[in-house]
Amino acid sequence: MRRKIVEEAKKMGGIFTSIIHPTMTISRRAKVGEGAIMMRYGIIQTGAVIDDFFAADAFAGVGHDAIYGDFVHMSPRATNLGGVVIGDDVFLGIRSTVMQVRIGRDAVVGACGLVNKDMPPNMIARGVPAQFYAKKEKDFFDT
Ligand SMILES: CC(C)(COP(=O)(O)OP(=O)(O)OC[C@H]1O[C@@H](n2cnc3c(N)ncnc32)[C@H](O)[C@@H]1OP(=O)(O)O)[C@@H](O)C(=O)NCCC(=O)NCCS
Repeated sequence: MRRKIVEEAKKMGGIFTSIIHPTMTISRRAKVGEGAIMMRYGIIQTGAVIDDFFAADAFAGVGHDAIYGDFVHMSPRATNLGGVVIGDDVFLGIRSTVMQVRIGRDAVVGACGLVNKDMPPNMIARGVPAQFYAKKEKDFFDT
């Protein structure tokens, strides 16, 4: 949904800025693209590279040297270890944890899920350790 809104706004000549709560801690050696929204007390560790339109709820934690695609959404207290690779449009549920693995684009990690192996695109993960299953609908969070 956010991607669609941004695409429409860009067609109309929209310019995007980032909104970052003053309590966010962002390493000087991390990079974040345009249009980010970051809420209270999050942290982005050294060497992380995050593409455009990142959204991080309160207490979200991005590990060192993480690589994030566009439009990644972190729910409150979602965290990951260093060196993760997170694809475009991935949704990380509240209190979820991602170990040092890769998550394919458009995947969803459920609340409190622990992802400890590579996750294919367009899948949902839930549980500890997370089990994967296919999304029934493409626009899972659009309604
Ligand atoms: C994992 C999730 C995506 C599954 O959604 P879904 O496919 O619609 O699944 P359902 O709600 O139909 O539940 C299916 C089963 O999974 C279980 N389940 C749902 N979410 C779960 C979770 N996070 N962890 C473990 N089990 C879960 C349900 O209890 C149900 O079990 P049952 O078949 O034994 O009755 C969703 O529940 C979720 O966790 N979303 C993230 C919410 C979130 O963090 N939002 C951020 C708010 S700020």
